[in-house]
Amino acid sequence: NHSSSIHKKLMGIPHILVLPFPAQGHVNPLMHLSKRLVQHGFKITFLNTDFNHKRVVSATNEHVNLEGPRMRLISIPDGLGPEDDRNDLASLCVAMLRTMPSLVERVIEDINGLDDDASEKISGIIADVNMSWALEIADKLGIKGAVLCPSAAAISAMQESIPKLIQDGILDSNGLPVKNRKFQILPGMPIMDTADIPWCIGDSTSMKIIFDYVVRLVQWSHLTDWRLCNTTSDLEPEALSLCPKILPIGPLMESDDNLRSLGQFWEEDLSCLSWLDQQPPCSVIYIAFGSFTVFDPLQFKELALGLELTNKSFLWVVREDIDTKGNTKTAYPDEFQGTRGKIVKWAPQQKVLRHPATACFISHCGWNSTVEGLSNGVPFLCWPYFADQVFDKSYICDVWKVGLGFDLDEKGLISRWEIKKKVDQLLGDDNIRGRSQKLKGMIVNNTLEGGQSYENFNKFVEWLKE
Ligand code: UDX
Repeated sequence: NHSSSIHKKLMGIPHILVLPFPAQGHVNPLMHLSKRLVQHGFKITFLNTDFNHKRVVSATNEHVNLEGPRMRLISIPDGLGPEDDRNDLASLCVAMLRTMPSLVERVIEDINGLDDDASEKISGIIADVNMSWALEIADKLGIKGAVLCPSAAAISAMQESIPKLIQDGILDSNGLPVKNRKFQILPGMPIMDTADIPWCIGDSTSMKIIFDYVVRLVQWSHLTDWRLCNTTSDLEPEALSLCPKILPIGPLMESDDNLRSLGQFWEEDLSCLSWLDQQPPCSVIYIAFGSFTVFDPLQFKELALGLELTNKSFLWVVREDIDTKGNTKTAYPDEFQGTRGKIVKWAPQQKVLRHPATACFISHCGWNSTVEGLSNGVPFLCWPYFADQVFDKSYICDVWKVGLGFDLDEKGLISRWEIKKKVDQLLGDDNIRGRSQKLKGMIVNNTLEGGQSYENFNKFVEWLKE
């Protein structure tokens, strides 16, 4: 009727600013969340850093409508120079905090000051929890603020427990890990070594900078009641009981609407999907290490020869920057034929994991890769490097028991024989396969009507629309 249509017009289309941390593993879940909000009638302005925005635009071909009426990609500087190393987390965090808050505020003021059409005004910010300083801006401007944690809820639980970790002598008063101590946040959660605390990265100076940033993130994140997490209640009951304010809304996965996913830093090589179509069900090893792990040349060779030794088909993602010198092509050993395999620079990973030909996943255990593998019932061979990956590996191998780890040889490498042995062991283990399938069912149920993630997401949407 007339009055409700006027009311609707006055309410306008809710317009949300989405702010990911500048890394592929953070842009992806925030992009999936954004697309779901678009399906629920929202307009999204997705704010990348200039550096990543350029990569997204150049990796995306004309098939994708980058600037749809409901989804707009924009960018601002991250505060680093063009040649600075963006994998240096400490410098990145310092530069961002110095530069970005005032720019984000200006972006919102500019958009909201553009015209007087209420439908265009930004009424809320959803920030990556690693950018939760943006909640102060939301507060200041009187708009809504929420955060998304793109890692396990356990990582937030661990960060919330920092005062206790210091009290228990796990961290010293500067936040540095005390060597060779084991700890467990709660029974049922992985037992960890202090060397593997997710935010303890780099030398002690970097660690201190990142620690201070994390402590502030925890404080900022309390500015909102809406702390979402890409997890589910079956995966992390203990962590979620420790932090009842964290709302699981996972798994955040791509919707099936686009041929290519939006927000990728590299162009996806779709030819691997037709290659997978030609492989028998459950026959292919998929190998990928996320967006910023780099390989030691000796280890790279050992992996190549290990894959050869398995005598199985494999799909291997070798990013152009997988070694620091960018010369992996020359690093394939002479004995490596690769005839049973397909190598791509960047895969449409979720589609690969969904594909019936995929048998197992050799993964660095980034949280997105973990959730994507679990949601498709694909068992893991875990090859973690740093950050939260070691913790995720413990979840996979020790808590959910849907994967195996690798042992190092006397040279500190994962040898070709170890790779063959673990592939055979994993693929021959019906219990692991059974548990993977069962977990997949439980995870997917969360997203169906009545499931906890479904209900939490809907409550969140209602609040955003209020
Ligand atoms: C980082 C951290 O390592 C991770 O632990 C943290 O939780 C999030 O940020 P990254 O190392 O890139 O992420 O790994 P991951 O979390 O697995 O994210 C990689 C993303 O890239 C996944 O969504 C995956 O689907 C995608 N991907 C990877 C591709 O689309 N194609 C590829 O070839 C490889």
